[in-house]
Amino acid sequence: MISNFNDYLKKYKESVESPEKFWSNYAENFKWEKKWDDILEWDFRVPKVEWFRNSKLNITTNCLDRHLKKHSKKIAYKWIPNDPKEDSISITFEQLHVEVCKFSNVLTKNGVKKGDRVCIYMPMLIELTIAVLACARVGAIHSVVFAGFSAQALSERINDATCKLIITTDGSYRGDKEIKLKEICDEALENTPTIKSCIVYKRTGSEVKMRNGRDKWWHEEMKGTTNIFEPIVVDAEDPLFILYTSGSTGKPKGIQHSTAGYMIYTSFSFKNVFQYEEDDIYWCTADIGWITGHSYIIYGPLLNGASSILFEGIPSYPDFGRFWKIVEENKVNIFYTAPTAIRALEAKGLRYVKPYDLSSLKVLGTVGEPINEDAWNWYNENIGEKDIPIVDTWWQTETGGIMISNLAGVTPSKATFATLPLPGIQPCIMDNDGNELNNLNVEGKLCIKFPWPSMARTIYGDHKRFKDTYFSTFENMYFTGDGCIRDNEGMYRITGRVDDVIIVSGHNLGTAEIESAIDEHPNVCETAIVGYPHKIKGNAIYAFVITQGDIKNEINTRAEINNLIVKNVGPIAKVEKIQFVKGLPKTRSGKIMRRILRKIASNDFSNFGDTSTLLDPNVVEEIIKEKI
Ligand code: PRX
Repeated sequence: MISNFNDYLKKYKESVESPEKFWSNYAENFKWEKKWDDILEWDFRVPKVEWFRNSKLNITTNCLDRHLKKHSKKIAYKWIPNDPKEDSISITFEQLHVEVCKFSNVLTKNGVKKGDRVCIYMPMLIELTIAVLACARVGAIHSVVFAGFSAQALSERINDATCKLIITTDGSYRGDKEIKLKEICDEALENTPTIKSCIVYKRTGSEVKMRNGRDKWWHEEMKGTTNIFEPIVVDAEDPLFILYTSGSTGKPKGIQHSTAGYMIYTSFSFKNVFQYEEDDIYWCTADIGWITGHSYIIYGPLLNGASSILFEGIPSYPDFGRFWKIVEENKVNIFYTAPTAIRALEAKGLRYVKPYDLSSLKVLGTVGEPINEDAWNWYNENIGEKDIPIVDTWWQTETGGIMISNLAGVTPSKATFATLPLPGIQPCIMDNDGNELNNLNVEGKLCIKFPWPSMARTIYGDHKRFKDTYFSTFENMYFTGDGCIRDNEGMYRITGRVDDVIIVSGHNLGTAEIESAIDEHPNVCETAIVGYPHKIKGNAIYAFVITQGDIKNEINTRAEINNLIVKNVGPIAKVEKIQFVKGLPKTRSGKIMRRILRKIASNDFSNFGDTSTLLDPNVVEEIIKEKI
């Protein structure tokens, strides 16, 4: 583990000068069925990246079996239910190993083979981790879909990855709500011809319809299965999972990660960023439906044999002190959350923090969007008591692991700055003309110049889109889609997306998906959505909507529009404000000038930049005049 700043500088230098040596040294810590022939082959122009070539392994051997000798009785997860009156459940590494083996047998019995895609649509339960790991153990590719997505969004993702089997639950609890997941799943499965089986874990006990021949109960399938399952050996570059993320345009992208490089990097980054030590209690509040949950609830912690809290609920239930109550009761040492949660808790005041003893905390973390100074200070003063490091971890679904972050207590931290790259990560800042900005005090677009082990390998089924999205803006570079500043000390600060992705409460949302949902309304001709700053959510969505026909009741129409979004995408994508307009600012070639709409949505009516290509400048005047 990197233990001080000089050590970081030394390791960083080594990792850049001899990346192959650096990563192969670290890879020696793992169990391989066969070691690599060579470490790295790459060409960003194709793009092609292969790490630990021709090595053979199974990641679950490294997450589970490898720890059984020393840590069999150690807790892997302590599950904390949504309702504090319900009992928590702990599972040791040994028990998790047993359950994963049993469920691997269930998957095999249901015809799942190496390379098959399995969709997982579940709330935060231990069984979700079992389902994910069992897929990896049988060599199948898991595609976890966040359980807040709608039936339509779920079926789109199932069809894109042509999944064979889906794992879900009867229902889920979120605060005082019960969500009937199986019903949503049933609706999705009306349009998913490739799904042959649906395995249902009983969580809420609510009544569900089970379709003969397709639907099976988890507990019945598990009955009588053996707890022996020899892991299926896969190649280093065999895909481990697909995870969908929104893009600027078009449908969501199935980001595909491979096995060995992802394993090496999630393990390395978890240990070093959080400075994880053997007996630490670690808690990441993310949902496993997002990349943070994949890398830093499942793989990173398990690879390090860590004990994690797995929380089913939400920060506001039964009250806004829930996070801190869990920290106190479980003596959490490392706590990793999102700026949107910090802001929401800050807004409720210290009366929800003060009653709790947070002295067990050693490290705080943040991820998912830029953290504003006010939220950083609040976190630092009231949760960390100005005494413990905050790691501001910048990374993406596509990067697989944390890329730019301070290492807790080891490298310097700076409010609102992700600070310095991890070993092996070579960031650079580009201007719009494709020149690299090598100096201090520069601002531009963030790219990465050299491959790192956990980088995405492709977009499932669409390598061309992968190339166009990430490797075509700048020659021979991975383009992140983020804007970035390098300050006078060489520290990096991420300023936000420079494309049409909007990050709302830490969730990436693509404009195209939401606009096409709104366009389904019979009175809507055309829509443009943009993000604007929001105190708690970071960004909220503002929709400019051109209508046709007679709208009798604007309030109803607004509600109908949001219902369509909930149906097509999910509640996370609801729009905050809807303005009915007569026209949208378009260029002569018909492209919507979102930059102008973004300014209007944020109440900034000055300096719209170059508007000479606008087809009809009066449209802008009119929108401003009628702004809500
Ligand atoms: O804009 C950056 C922002 O989140 C984007 C990636 O989103 P997603 O793929 O959903 O993954 C989120 C969890 C890793 C990035 O392009 N982002 C993420 N972390 C930070 C951040 N922006 C600023 N600071 C961060 N620490």
